Formats: sequence, structure tokens, C-alpha cells
Amino acid sequence: MSIEETLEWDGELTVTRFDRETGAWFVIRLDSTVLGPAAGGTRAAQYPTLDAALADAGKLAGAMTLKMAVSNLPMGGGKSVIALPAPRKDIDPKSWTRILEIHAENLNKLNGSYWTGPDVNTNSADMDVLNDTTRFVFGRSIERGGAGSSALTTAIGVFEAIKASAHHRGLGTLDGLTVLVQGLGAVGGSVAALAADAGARLLVADTDRERLGHARALGHTVIEPDDVLTTRCDVFAPCAMGGVITANVASNLDCAVVAGAANNVLADEYAGEILNKRGILYAPDFVANAGGAIHLVGREVLGWSESTVHERAVGIGESLGRVFAISDAESSTPEAAAKKLAAGRAQQVSSASVGA
Ligand code: NAI
Ligand code: PHE
Repeated sequence: MSIEETLEWDGELTVTRFDRETGAWFVIRLDSTVLGPAAGGTRAAQYPTLDAALADAGKLAGAMTLKMAVSNLPMGGGKSVIALPAPRKDIDPKSWTRILEIHAENLNKLNGSYWTGPDVNTNSADMDVLNDTTRFVFGRSIERGGAGSSALTTAIGVFEAIKASAHHRGLGTLDGLTVLVQGLGAVGGSVAALAADAGARLLVADTDRERLGHARALGHTVIEPDDVLTTRCDVFAPCAMGGVITANVASNLDCAVVAGAANNVLADEYAGEILNKRGILYAPDFVANAGGAIHLVGREVLGWSESTVHERAVGIGESLGRVFAISDAESSTPEAAAKKLAAGRAQQVSSASVGA
């Protein structure tokens, strides 16, 4: 790929840095600051190439713009990717602290046009370390004055999304339905517990076998990670990584609803169209998983109480109802309908600031 192809992107800014000592690449992409400073988590992972890290950061930043807009939060969208030279668990603590320090220095250079927070492989303790060097960080631990982990609020929103989608698809309540949760991490574990409490039969999968013991003890049925996309269920809840639904997967999935926490679940728009044609209702990820952004921005920017944050996360069910109403009325995919809602909000804010 040429340098032009690598960097061709419709967002506002790309920042990259390489650190020879730790072997880490740092990428920050600001997709949009139209609705406010860009915000989005820091993902630490291994990538096959720098192109792949840049592409992931760009796509994730775009999803943050949409998430903030549909959730009426006064922030734009951005994302950080730290491309690691080894799996996160194999990075020694000293290197990891140095990696976080460099990332914090980069955040300071952006001087508040981008705020970060936790994402895959980063947590509140890491946000505390970043905060030793920068103030542009959400999701510090509660002891350090932050909003703490956003995972439970995200799970509550995803659970509401699952209920609203099952209802819209004509499946009724979750009682007796089969819900398949892919990824029993911080969010997926709680989504599974909430769905089980609502009477659903749980199928669960995780590549980390240590996470499965608790699920087994709760009576959930464990399936192999490789069988997830071919196992029949009523609701498929992807709560691991993005890009799981390719066109091929969409043509073969055996479920009625897809609603989960993972960012960028659809590998491309075509996959969404196939789901739609097959009558599989897809809850757009940036609506369903907005609980994390609601938690962090609600608590730390807007000063919301815990109960307001909870109400707003529960409101994700209603927001999805609006998305599905537009998609039904316009015969569009739910993804296209949700993007239209997000664009309407950006338009409203732009017109208001022109009139001000
Ligand atoms: P996590 O890292 O705690 O959990 C992810 C789980 O997925 C891990 O247990 C991992 O072993 C498992 N996993 C990875 N690949 C797998 C595979 N191929 N098959 C089955 N399991 C697999 O992450 P967390 O915080 O639960 O987030 C899950 C997803 O939700 C991520 O995509 C994240 O970006 C997204 N998200 C998280 C939010 C939050 O507040 N934590 C907010 C919005 C989105
Ligand atoms: N990474 C999470 C998400 O994708 C939480 C987050 C939201 C982090 C907003 C920073 C800012 O929604």
C-alpha cells in the first residue's frame, strides 16, 4: 500500500509516533470535533501492519462520532490505537508504564482536542497512570476522582438493546429465548447475567478458558469459539472484537437478532444489507453500546448522578425503537437509519451555532 493509500481518510487528524525502546507504534485519529472535543478509548493490541492499526483507529474513531451524536453527548469522535510488539500480557510492567507515558505526552500535544478513556486491553488503573502526565483522560479509578469502569453501564445498555430488538422482531420478552454471548469479558459477562435473570437460556463462548468456569457454575452452556457463528440462537450478542459479521457470515448466521457490545461488528455495509434482507434485525453497535460513553461523559463532563447515568443507559432501548421506526418507514437498514439520526443531530448543532 502507498503512503497516500494508508493515510487517505475523511477524518480531521491523524497522529502517529514510533518508540524504538518499547517497540510500540502510537496512533491517534480524530474523526470529528463538530459536536465537541473528540473522545474515544485507547486500544492496545497487536496489528499485522501499521496500515491495519491506522485503519482500525480510523474506523473506531468514526464509530465514536456516531455514538456521541446519537446519544446527544457534547463530544466528537476519536480513538487511540497502541500497536504492541507482543501480546499485552507479555509486555513487562516497566515497558507498559513507559508506553502509557508516551501516549500521555501525545495527548498533551493535542491539548484537549482529544480525550481518551479505557478500551480493549486498557482499564481504569491505566487511566490513572496516564493521568500522572495528562488531564485529557476519562475513566480514572473512583479513588482518583474518575468515573471508574464503564463496563456495567455498557452492559445495561446492551441488555436494553437486546430486549428492544427482540420485541421489535416479534420475539416478545427474553423469557425462554436463546441468547448467545460471544466474549465473557467485563461487558459480555454482565450481559449474560442480565439476560439469564430475564429468563433467557444462555450459550456462551470465550477464547480465554479461565472466564468460562463461572459461566458453567451459573448453568450457562459453553460452546467452542469456532462454533459461535454457526450455532443456532434467537439473539446473537457479539461482545468480543469487531468485524465478526462479514458478508459470508451474514449469509449464514442462524439467528433473528444481532445486538451486542463490540464496536464495528459489521465488517462492511454489505454485511448489514444481507442481514436486513434475511430478516435478521441488527441493533447498530454505536447505539447499543453507547452506555460506556454515557457513563464516562455523563459523570465526568456533564456531572450526572449515578441514577441519571442509569436512566440514560436504560433509554438506549427507546433510542433503538426510534432507529427501527425510521428503518421500517424508509425501508433502509437499521445502520443507515441510525447514521441518519446521528447526521440530524450534527446538523442541528451546526445550525444552532451558525444562528448564535
Ligand atoms: P474485555 O477485554 O473485558 O472482554 C472481551 C472478551 O472477549 C475477553 O474475555 C476475551 O477473552 C474474549 N474474546 C476475544 N476474542 C474472542 C473470540 N474470538 N471469541 C470469543 N471470545 C473472545 O472487553 P470488554 O470491556 O468486555 O469489551 C468488549 C467489547 O465491547 C469490545 O469490543 C469493546 O470495544 C466494546 N465496548 C466496551 C465498552 C466498555 O465500556 N467496556 C463500551 C463500548 C464498547
Ligand atoms: N471505549 C469505550 C467505547 O468504545 C468507552 C469510551 C467512551 C472511552 C468514550 C472513551 C470515551 O465506547
